[in-house]
Amino acid sequence: MSATDQARSETIEALLTEERRFPPPPEFAANANVGPQVYPEADRDFEAFWAARARELEWEKAFTRVLEWQEPFARWFADGRLNITVNCLDRHVRSGKGSRVAYYFEGEPGDRRIVTYADLLRDVCQFANALRSLGIKAGDRVAIYMPMIPELPVAMLACERIGAAHSVIFGGFSPDAIVDRVTDAGCVLIITADFGWRRGKQVPLKDNCDAAMRHTPNVRHCIVFRRTGHEVSMHEGRDLWWHDVIRDQPDSCEPAALEAEQLLFILYTSGTTAKPKGIKHTTAGYLTGVATTHKYVFDVKDDDVYWCTADIGWVTGHSYIVYGPLCNGTTGILYEGTPDFPERDRFWAIAERYKVSILYTAPTAIRTFMKWGPEFPARHDLSSLRLLGTVGEPINPEAWMWYRDVIGGGRCPIVDTWWQTETGMIMITPLPGVTTTLPGSATQPFPGIYPDVVDERGASVPPGGGGYIVIRKPWPAMLRGIWGDDERYVQTYWSKFPHMYLAGDGCRRDDDGNYWFMGRIDDVMNVSGHRISTTEVESALVDHQAVAEAAVVGRTDAMTGQAISAFVLLKGAELGSEALAEELRAHVGTKLGRFTAPKYITFTNELPKTRSGKIMRRLLRDISEGRALGDTTTLADSSVVAELQTRAKAEAQKEE
Ligand code: WTA
Repeated sequence: MSATDQARSETIEALLTEERRFPPPPEFAANANVGPQVYPEADRDFEAFWAARARELEWEKAFTRVLEWQEPFARWFADGRLNITVNCLDRHVRSGKGSRVAYYFEGEPGDRRIVTYADLLRDVCQFANALRSLGIKAGDRVAIYMPMIPELPVAMLACERIGAAHSVIFGGFSPDAIVDRVTDAGCVLIITADFGWRRGKQVPLKDNCDAAMRHTPNVRHCIVFRRTGHEVSMHEGRDLWWHDVIRDQPDSCEPAALEAEQLLFILYTSGTTAKPKGIKHTTAGYLTGVATTHKYVFDVKDDDVYWCTADIGWVTGHSYIVYGPLCNGTTGILYEGTPDFPERDRFWAIAERYKVSILYTAPTAIRTFMKWGPEFPARHDLSSLRLLGTVGEPINPEAWMWYRDVIGGGRCPIVDTWWQTETGMIMITPLPGVTTTLPGSATQPFPGIYPDVVDERGASVPPGGGGYIVIRKPWPAMLRGIWGDDERYVQTYWSKFPHMYLAGDGCRRDDDGNYWFMGRIDDVMNVSGHRISTTEVESALVDHQAVAEAAVVGRTDAMTGQAISAFVLLKGAELGSEALAEELRAHVGTKLGRFTAPKYITFTNELPKTRSGKIMRRLLRDISEGRALGDTTTLADSSVVAELQTRAKAEAQKEE
């Protein structure tokens, strides 16, 4: 066993001996949207289970076929036709719920707007008509690069209204990252805003698009929403103001009756190579999956105020701010900015103001709140909360308990939800009225989901053991592949073990069948819940003129889960200075986005390599964690590591 595995297994031992158990409060269980019978119901016939959920949607043409499975390509409800916006908007308005609030919007500077379902429907129709008038048609791909304002879901839904697919690009990405994504997906239009607000500063979204559009000849237009009103340059003929394109557009728009398997969106995520993967999701199965999980996992009721604090630029926002909640007619919160603006109690001020009852956030945020201290939540009345959720990375039991006690007042169940961009929907999670929770465990598979933990040979590991998490049966919201690259789809997810979807996470199951996630087992880091590929950061570093070679690993970080640690070899004989390290961070920032800049940079004259020349990341991980080295027998030159250890240690001390 390597030192890494040793350390991991010790943490897992600690987790497995976790003795605290929290059964659902009886009153919660009595009123929950779903009870324990849902598990055997799904197990009797999982296709019938999902079909029954899909029939709760409104179909333009009912489906007769449920699952067509040509491994690894799934088609769900394929002969049906429907439109997502009808399910998310029209049917609520039609049934008299038009005045229900869809989003309480709060901008970072403090501006507020209430957006009802009727408002949203009108805005989506108008904007859909505008898109049509610009020549956007079914099957086209549209890039969206916007702040967290109501126009972002409006833009997404408007695409769906007419059958175009969106590719939302997180507002923290740099122009180069926009170019890669827009080019790969063949987008013909970019929708953006002049600026967005972030921690009191204006993020130049339009400028970033301008820089990107120099390299994206296929983009015909750029629609710009005026958010802050500061000046931006508008390219005659190409750039159009949002308010101009919707002017004179009718506020109704016939929804396209789309095939169940119509492409809904592409969302890029990091893999183990430098090229991000465009994960494809389609219409009916995805909506069935996210609406069902949203209803059961968050137990949403008509009078709840639900707040998922994610950014819509990531999958959590797609599934659990936009599609799941709107399909269920939920009242939600949309907040534009950071939790510490203007003060560190902003989240709690919002929760109090709107009487938030369900809060879904990330472990990294919870750990940050813990560090800031209980006085910030204590300033506000949080008694409206009744359910808490987390997503994005494993949550340490200490943070789980703090969340429960300090934020939830000891009375709210916590749902720790495991899933991925690829799975589209929550896969492993407690059901809050059913499952007994344990701090640090995502507990049980959602009904109708069939995961397993297997060893290196693909054999199921008995209770108490750990290995690779895999999924054994198709599920409705599963990815339909990687945009333009079926081969990579098969290679990445379906090749290691036959007939199993490989998620890329390590996991253990305890004697009661509870799942304990252990982080990624591939070269993907998880920094503040953002998936970042080591290779992507390495190529951004090597792109700098001074750098000859770079190796990047994730290092455990108390706040962000993992922090990026880079080992850098320069072209000359010199080692780099602190100034150069700063320059490299800025360089990675402009290549990829500021959130991917390495926290630690260790300059070196040599990297530890095997005799065949492969960089030994495992050793770099050990070095960067400051622990005993694992097996070094395959190392070409063993003197390299001692020196690196000393340097990395000095680097870490500087940071602390
Ligand atoms: C990690 C985010 C442990 C995991 C929805 C997964 C988690 C990756 C959890 C997907 C959790 C997400 N417990 N680990 N509750 N939730 N992860 O695609 O490593 O941005 O593979 O989707 O986040 O990240 P993605």
